[in-house]
Formats: sequence, structure tokens, C-alpha cells
Amino acid sequence: MQATNQARSPRNILITGGAGFIGSNFVHHWCGQYPGDRVVVLDALTYAGNRNNLVDLEGKANLRFVQGDICDRALVDQLFQAENIDTVAHFAAESHVDRSILGPGAFVQTNVVGTFTLLEAFRQHWMNRGKLESDRFLHVSTDEVYGSLEPNDPGFSETTPYAPNSPYSASKAGSDHLVRAYFHTYGMPTLMTNCSNNYGPYHFPEKLIPLMCINILLGKALPVYGDGQNIRDWLYVGDHCSAIDTVIHRGQPGESYNVGGNNEVKNLDLVHTLCDLMDELAPDLPIRPSRELITFVKDRPGHDRRYAIDATKISTELGWTPSVTVEVGLRKTIEWYLSNKDWWEPLLSEEYKAYYQKVYA
Ligand code: NAD
Ligand code: DAU
Repeated sequence: MQATNQARSPRNILITGGAGFIGSNFVHHWCGQYPGDRVVVLDALTYAGNRNNLVDLEGKANLRFVQGDICDRALVDQLFQAENIDTVAHFAAESHVDRSILGPGAFVQTNVVGTFTLLEAFRQHWMNRGKLESDRFLHVSTDEVYGSLEPNDPGFSETTPYAPNSPYSASKAGSDHLVRAYFHTYGMPTLMTNCSNNYGPYHFPEKLIPLMCINILLGKALPVYGDGQNIRDWLYVGDHCSAIDTVIHRGQPGESYNVGGNNEVKNLDLVHTLCDLMDELAPDLPIRPSRELITFVKDRPGHDRRYAIDATKISTELGWTPSVTVEVGLRKTIEWYLSNKDWWEPLLSEEYKAYYQKVYA
């Protein structure tokens, strides 16, 4: 859905992490919806960041890409000032739970210290601009901050107590608390979204859906953690982008909004669906049926059993609802991976192989 039909003033938006999975989808979304806006992307290009995610936007006059770290206060100050930024959409993060188990330090640095750096820089800049009511700082967070649900528990709502279980979710929870505090203490116009699992184009192949799609294409084992009965609530990435757009334009400063697709699926069922869709859509697979590749592997330590989102607040207060069903979204996603081998093949680098070895050996 379109987030706003009303006349709007152009914005100067800083999108952090705009070369990552969701961030790059959001850059495409924003440039498509608001072609008159100034868009500045700040991304450190870690292993998860990829300039190719934005290649079709290269040369666009009002889009600027800056390679840099959100922890670099001088750089952030300079960008806020030089570009007269009035809106921040903050995606930059270390985002993979398995990597946070292997090495939590980078998660605390980027997710906590990086978010704090951005908040401090924006506070100074917002004060310099005269504390404009229309300015926005939108922090993109996750449902993982709420911990794990029992089978019959209702979905996470905005009042569910925080109970993060992994270094990743604990670092995101820390950043969420800082964002909340900047509204309550300084009146800064912060907003937050806590979203469930995304899938779609430009998804780095360490996460479940792209990893399974690529392994099927390569005839490699499909590693399912534990008994495969963990549940995730899947949302097509384009719907997450429209939700963030909606919150920036219509959300109430100081509020958080849970975003989800109402698509709870057990991991093993999801992998079965991906195998069946691949068997249908991919012309020459090394192993067929793909289900033969499924292998149960050692469980992720501290693996959360179930996530589910209650998205009543964003739907009733802001009028946002998801537009893509999981059936349609998965088919679109597989078609994208089939037509974009040139995008994903270079990502299976030596670094990726070393990481894969550590997690799956
Ligand atoms: P991603 O790992 O694909 O991308 C993260 C991006 O941030 C990369 O481009 C990376 O280069 C950049 N980055 C990392 N550290 C940086 C730093 N110090 N300075 C500047 N840039 C840096 O992540 P994603 O899956 O696109 O997630 C984006 C945001 O959405 C994250 O905040 C994540 O917590 C949140 N989120 C993700 C999901 C999901 O399913 N993927 C769901 C809910 C919320
Ligand atoms: O819920 C939102 C979160 O979703 C985001 O905050 C995170 O940034 C994002 O990475 C994602 O976290 P998950 O840990 O849920 O996603 P992942 O794709 O890593 O795993 C999804 C499920 O699949 C999870 O239960 C673990 C399982 N899994 C994952 C991989 C990579 C497997 O069984 N095998 C695998 O090889």
C-alpha cells in the first residue's frame, strides 16, 4: 500500500545500512515513491553490504552513497549538516544470530554504540535546526527482542516485555531502549518498528531462505537446525518497507509499532515448500526431488522456539496491512534467485565458505 496520499514536503533522508538486504529494498522503495527527495545512504559495506544491491540506481542525481561507519561521529555530524538531514531510517546493524553467537563484540559495537552515536549526532543536529516537529528518527528493530513464545501464547504486542535471548537480540534490545529514552528524555521525534522475519530479493545467503534456495541450486545439503519445528512469522520485504514508510509519515513520535505478516510457518514446512517450488520452477537441478537434500544438523544454541507478531496497532492506528501472501512472496523470491545468479554467486566468497565451515562443520 502507499503510505501517504496527502501532499507532502520533500524530505532529506539518511538511510543507514542501505546496501544491506532490507535497507537496499527500502532505498528502492523510497526512490520510487518519492523521486523528489534527497536520499543519502550511509553503509560500512561489511560482508553483508553490497553496492550491487543499488546498482540500478547509480547515477540518480538526488541519491548519494557514502561508505562509512555509523560509529564515526565526525562523519555522521558532517553528513547531517551538509545534507540538512530531516529524516533518518536506521537499518545498519549486525543482523545474523549465528554470527552473534560466534562473535558478539561487533554486535555491541554497531547495534548499541552505533545507534547511540547516531542518536547523539541527530540530537545535536535536531537542536541546531530548532527542534522541528516534522523531523523523524526511525529505528528499525526486530521481534527477537521479545524472546520466545510458547505454542499457545498470543503474538508479541508492543507491550510484551523484552526478553532477548541471543547476543544479537540483546544488542538490538539495548539500541531500542536508547531510542525510547531519547524520546522520553529529550523529546526527540524517534519512532520504532519491531518486525518479524523478512524474505525477498537481495537477501544475503547466510539466512534460511536464500541459503536453502542456493543450496538446492548447487545440490548441497539443506541444514535444518534441531527438529525443524521452530516457528517464524514471515513477511515479504516490500511489505516491511511500506510499513516503515507508513510509520515515518503517519506514526506518533515516541511510539513503537510491531510489523508482521501473520504467516507463522515451521522451519521444516518452509523448507519443504522451498524444495517443491524449486522442483517446479528450476529447469535443471543437480538433485531432484530437492527434499532429498534435507539434513538435520545440531541446533543453534539458545534457539528461540516461536515468534509471532500481533500487528493490530499499526493496522488499526496507521492503516498498514501486508499486501503479499507467503505463497506469492516465496514464488517471487525463488524466481528472483533463479534470474539473478550473477548477484548471488560472487557472495559465496572465501569469507562465506569459512563462516559456513564454522557453523555447519
Ligand atoms: P543486513 O545484515 O542484510 O544489512 C546490514 C547493513 O548494515 C549492511 O549493508 C552492512 O554493511 C551495514 N552495516 C553494518 N555495520 C555497519 C556500521 N557499523 N556502519 C554502517 N553500516 C553498517 O541486515 P538486514 O537483514 O537488512 O536488517 C536491517 C535491519 O533490520 C537491522 O537493523 C535488523 O536488525 C532489522 N531487522 C531485520 C529483519 C530480517 O528478517 N532480516 C527483521 C526485522 C528487523
Ligand atoms: O525475527 C526477525 C529476525 O529474523 C531478524 O531480526 C534477524 O536479523 C534475521 O536474521 C532473522 O533471524 P532468524 O534467526 O529467525 O533468521 P534465520 O534466517 O537465521 O533463521 C530462520 C530460522 O531457520 C531459525 O529458526 C533458524 C533456522 N535455520 C537457519 C539457518 C540459517 C535453520 O534451520 N538452518 C539454517 O541453516
